[in-house]
Amino acid sequence: MDRIIITGGTPLHGEIPIGGAKNAALPLMAAALLSDKPLVLDNLPGVADIHAMGNLLAELGAKVDFDAVARRVTIDAGAADETTAPYDIVRKMRASVLVLGPLLARFGKARVSLPGGCAIGTRPVDLHLSALEKMGAVIELEGGYINAHVDGPLKGAHIIFPSVTVGGTENLMMAAALADGETVLANAAREPEVTDLAHCLNAMGADVAGIGTDTLRIQGVRMLSAAAHSIVPDRIETGTYAIAAAITGGDVLLTGAQLATNEAVFGVLSRAGVEVSEDQGGVRVARKNGRIRGVDLMTEPYPGFPTDMQAQFMALMSLAEGASMITESIFENRFMHVPELVRMGADINVHGASAIVRGVHGLSGAPVMATDLRASVSLVLAALAAKGETEINRVYHLDRGYERIEEKLAACGANIRRASGSA
Ligand code: UD1
Repeated sequence: MDRIIITGGTPLHGEIPIGGAKNAALPLMAAALLSDKPLVLDNLPGVADIHAMGNLLAELGAKVDFDAVARRVTIDAGAADETTAPYDIVRKMRASVLVLGPLLARFGKARVSLPGGCAIGTRPVDLHLSALEKMGAVIELEGGYINAHVDGPLKGAHIIFPSVTVGGTENLMMAAALADGETVLANAAREPEVTDLAHCLNAMGADVAGIGTDTLRIQGVRMLSAAAHSIVPDRIETGTYAIAAAITGGDVLLTGAQLATNEAVFGVLSRAGVEVSEDQGGVRVARKNGRIRGVDLMTEPYPGFPTDMQAQFMALMSLAEGASMITESIFENRFMHVPELVRMGADINVHGASAIVRGVHGLSGAPVMATDLRASVSLVLAALAAKGETEINRVYHLDRGYERIEEKLAACGANIRRASGSA
């Protein structure tokens, strides 16, 4: 297993290219199952989860052609005939459950392994399932699998999500695209990745209205056609590298990044004393004067502060002047990075869903490891600012969601390298 070794203390200067959003690409790839004509996706991020989704679609009989140079995938599900998403793939990537809606809508049946728990909480899919039942699906849970079928097409329905779910909104939007009649999704997620999926579905011939609001109205159509779509920039990769610039006291241009879809993160960074400006072709992030100030925040569904940026922000706050209270309202167990940051010298106390971070003057390098993607990257950020060497193990978590992270950081002056094999 690879490790990443970082010697901290160098302010980052330069440019970091921001790729397409992993969390947009995954549902977009699943959407290809809705049609027997090809879907071309551009600005595809080169991360491990994308290849896992490609493998799953291939398993279902789709033709999946990756073009790494063009950063493109072409998915032709014309010959797809398999409707089972097996445990072995789903357990490695929860987003596999996004094939449930498309399979059910196009083939009238789907058998998808239950994703089960993960490091950041129990993460059930009950909201996906009860909403699909409202559309006429018959669902049974058996042997760790979701067995779903429907006689004839799914039926349009009025669905009110009791709480906001990104994946649930995406699964239901895809299912509704081919349903009989109109589906209304109320209290729908408004994340930019959900919006991106809606635009792509419309490019395929679907009829989704209310895009970007919490009420989506989907008029079902009989079939979808071929389309090409370019994936939105990754706002979490953007925020992560913005913090890399801030935590090291550097000045970095994030090329291809958007301010508009990142207002919550950039707003909090500005309050903390980080300079953020829209620049030619991207967003410039710099910290020139003095220490970062402690700022409180709570994670919330979009347009609130994203839970996927909570760990990275905590790394920054661990070096702030003053204290910061960080409250996690989306996942019940998303503080696994805390003990590792504490091992690097941070002063953090967790009380239920909140963490009190008292800023310290410096962190020191240590061997660390994390159990999920964003927790791992928070340790990379802490290491960039820490004194001495940090060795981060279980790098496969980082590779799931960050493309060539060590190259992008090294290009801005970071002392970072990848070593193969565990210590
Ligand atoms: C997506 C993102 C993930 C992000 C999360 C919240 C992808 C591939 N992943 O995950 O990176 O952290 O949104 O922004 O896009 N819930 C239920 N029942 C359900 C569905 C969800 O109780 O049926 C709960 C979850 O356990 C969680 C909360 O609702 O506590 C939000 O989850 P959800 O928005 O569905 O997250 P994902 O789509 O899994």
